Amino acid sequence: MVKINENYGKLPGSYLFSEVARRISAYTAAHPEAKIIKLSIGDVTRPLVPAVTEAMHKAVDEMGTYEGFHGYGPEQGYPFLREAIAQFDYKARGVDIKPEEIFVSDGAKSDCGNIGDIFGVDNKVAVCDPVYPVYVDTNAMAGRAGDYVEAQGRWSNLIYMPCLEENGFMPQIPKERADLIYLCFPNNPTGSMATREQLKQWVDYANENGSVILYDSAYEAFITDPDIPHTIFEIEGARTCAIEFRSFSKTAGFTGNRCAYTVVPMELERDGAKLNTMWNRRQTTKFNGVPYVVQRGAAAIYTPEGHAQVMESIAYYQKNAQVIREGLTAAGLECFGGVNAPYIWLKTPGGMGSWDFFDLVLDKANVAITPGAGFGPSGEGYVRLTAFGDAEATRQAVERVKSML
Ligand code: MLT
Repeated sequence: MVKINENYGKLPGSYLFSEVARRISAYTAAHPEAKIIKLSIGDVTRPLVPAVTEAMHKAVDEMGTYEGFHGYGPEQGYPFLREAIAQFDYKARGVDIKPEEIFVSDGAKSDCGNIGDIFGVDNKVAVCDPVYPVYVDTNAMAGRAGDYVEAQGRWSNLIYMPCLEENGFMPQIPKERADLIYLCFPNNPTGSMATREQLKQWVDYANENGSVILYDSAYEAFITDPDIPHTIFEIEGARTCAIEFRSFSKTAGFTGNRCAYTVVPMELERDGAKLNTMWNRRQTTKFNGVPYVVQRGAAAIYTPEGHAQVMESIAYYQKNAQVIREGLTAAGLECFGGVNAPYIWLKTPGGMGSWDFFDLVLDKANVAITPGAGFGPSGEGYVRLTAFGDAEATRQAVERVKSML
């Protein structure tokens, strides 16, 4: 009889955003008249910008010709996109990343999960708490997380780094030695942002301990503060200890288009192996690349028009973040994040449980949010709101929550 991966049986309930969607559907089925405004999953609502759609149309036309047809592309991404990324996302910031260090993929979520393939199961994994659940669940699936302790809402073998109001929602270097360290800045879900000095501490720690930092920078386009680093590779020493994940999802509205990339520097070696070579081996074996048409669309955001257009969309979402933050703060709620990030981390009023507050807001304001407890035990007592909605709907949602209070 076949043996299954028993780690799946240890996973509690369903994936956070599936559970949130399930509850919204159940509510809508019971209250068909309710006009729900979703500020829950961080999914974009603005259409692709004209530079992207024009590039994609052109690429579709090319694909319909013998000369312009593309079959399997390079698994790592087309040179035109890898070169544009190296030039505009890195070199323009004074960071030297070579195209061969960039692996184009179908999503930062997939890469954050798949990266575990190149690491042994005995590694000690450190995660922020609260945290984007993909890091935790994928390590649990791989057998690195141990057992789920229901009463504590924690995995027995993970190192949790509490990100709390008293530490500015910043992870502290753990006492226990961590091999793999997941960091996400701008942070999902708290919206906090690490300074250069804070990241330097992590880089030094990783280099001293032979650890690897898995740096998720999917929301970097939302950074407004000029002193805040956009990439971990702005930090000296990061090339020997960090892998970075980036995405076109939130930067250019590609959640339905699927395009992202991961940077694995050539100098990054562990146990005598080059992680770039290993990731290349993994990708060429298990992945056949992102569609040509999509990569052409992604590359269009690096043209002057494309860049200006996507920055306009980002500004639109940043304005939403401001509307949420200021509106709810004026209503007497405590809000964090939402400045260099598209997420607002809200303290529930009166110490209410986050799922209870989720249910209350859904029922009384017909607004869907994400319960903080779904991101980890330290998320209890908080909820997350996304700025990726339509501006008018966001304004209405804030008004509804205010009148509910
Ligand atoms: C989120 O809401 O945290 C994200 O949209 C989920 C994702 O990017 O996978």
